[in-house]
Formats: sequence, structure tokens, C-alpha cells
Amino acid sequence: MSGLPTALITGGTSGIGLALAHRLAGTHDLFLTGRGERTGLPKDAGFIKADLSMPGEAADRIEAALRQADVGALSKLVLNAGTGTYAAVGAEDAAMIRRTLDVNLAASVLLAHRLAPFLEAGGGRLVLIGSVAYKGSGNMPAYAASKAGLAGLARSLRAEWSGRIGVQIIHPGPTRTPMHEKAGYVPGRLERLFFPADAMADEIARLMETDRPRATVMIGARLRRLLSGKAS
Ligand SMILES: NC(=O)c1ccc[n+]([C@@H]2O[C@H](COP(=O)([O-])OP(=O)(O)OC[C@H]3O[C@@H](n4cnc5c(N)ncnc54)[C@H](OP(=O)(O)O)[C@@H]3O)[C@@H](O)[C@H]2O)c1
Repeated sequence: MSGLPTALITGGTSGIGLALAHRLAGTHDLFLTGRGERTGLPKDAGFIKADLSMPGEAADRIEAALRQADVGALSKLVLNAGTGTYAAVGAEDAAMIRRTLDVNLAASVLLAHRLAPFLEAGGGRLVLIGSVAYKGSGNMPAYAASKAGLAGLARSLRAEWSGRIGVQIIHPGPTRTPMHEKAGYVPGRLERLFFPADAMADEIARLMETDRPRATVMIGARLRRLLSGKAS
């Protein structure tokens, strides 16, 4: 450990989480979680293998890995891992619904609780990565419900942890990552309108430096970036 503040990002092996890991790499000691694939991670980032579709076991593994690395305090806990299926109501079977709710919501509730002492010790902040879908999204019912659940979790923890641990929820708009293909969604030409993952990570990193308890990254952020001469 270098003595920098420590950040842990779930789902730090792909898409937004991986891009955010690269943003934070110079300023934080990093721990990234994922299920297995780990190419292109920032040098020196610790990797913790944990399948969040088994939330209890995953929380045990993650906490044990931090303790084994002698980490007692976290500056940032970014609960970013997410999954979903693009399917109409009724087209998902119970196992698919269960997996989405476990990875996106149940694991977040458990990890927030389990790692709260680390955040408190580090004067740290919990950052939940939600989605604009939390307001409802056709053909992603379980996913949208899981993200609405995260918004409720953020409100609950803010009340419970007031004055002890910061809680922020950031809702990204559509972003170019492997998630869409994994979910079975083909955006086609619409994908050109999506945020590049690097640009979304820039916006999330910027918001993480603010006191905003909740924020949405949508077209307004895109326009601001264009007007300030940034490429996306
Ligand atoms: N892309 C968008 O348009 C968009 C929009 C709004 C919100 N979001 C949210 O942003 C977050 C990141 O999504 P992304 O677009 O970057 O997706 P992504 O590229 O598919 O990355 C998802 C990450 O979550 C991890 N993950 C998925 N299932 C897991 C499981 N069972 N156990 C452990 N880790 C698991 C993946 O790790 P493995 O590869 O090892 O499974 C991966 O690192 C998600 O919460 C997503 O809902 C995305």
C-alpha cells in the first residue's frame, strides 16, 4: 500500500467501473472486484474475485481480502457492478430476475452494511451507481426495479449514517460498454448517442468530488463537455 486513500470499486473489470478505476489510479490505492476476467486493470490495483449473484459469500470474500491486505479504512466504496436482461415483463424467468436483484441490489445492501466500519474509519463515502432507468424503463423491468431499490437504499443510508458516512447515488445515462450486449440489447445507430465509458467515468469522478447526494449524468453533461472543448 502506498499510503494514498483507498478506494474499492465493484465491477471494476469492465465498462464504467474499469474506466473509473483508471481515473482514480493516480490518487488512490485501488481494489477492484469482478468474477474473473481482469485484463487492462490499472497497474498495482488489487483484484478481488467475487460473484455478487451470491451476495453473502461475495461480501465475506471482499471483507476478508481487505483484512488480509491489512486495509482497515476506505475513502471510497463505489458499488458499481451491475447486470440485467433486456426483456419484456414476463419474459424473464425467476432465476434471471433473482440474479439481477442479487447483483444490483442485495449485494449492495450487504456490502454497504459490511464495509460501513471501513468507511467510517476512513472518513469515507459510499457511491452507488444507479441508472436513469430507476424511474422505469420498458423492457428492463427487473433491472429498473433494482435501480429504484438502490435509490431507496441511498435515502435510507443517508438517514441512518448522517454525520458519519457520506452517501451519494449517481445515475448514468446510456453509456457505450459491454453491458448492452450482455443484456441482449442491440442499440444500433442509437449507440452513437451514448456516452463513451471514459467520459462517463470523468463525470462520475467529478461528481464524487462534490457534495451532491444524488446526480444524473445525461445530455446536459454531454453538452457541457462539448462546449468546454472535450471530445465527447
Ligand atoms: N452502460 C450503460 O448504459 C449504463 C447506464 C446506466 C447505468 N449503468 C450502470 O453502470 C454500472 C456499470 O455498468 P457497465 O455499463 O460498465 O457494464 P459492464 O461493462 O457490463 O460491467 C459490469 C461490471 O459488473 C460486474 N458484474 C456483473 N455481474 C457480476 C456478478 N454476478 N458478480 C460480480 N460482478 C459482476 C462485471 O464483472 P465481470 O465481468 O467479472 O462479471 C463488470 O465488471 C452498472 O451498475 C450499470 O447498471 C450502465
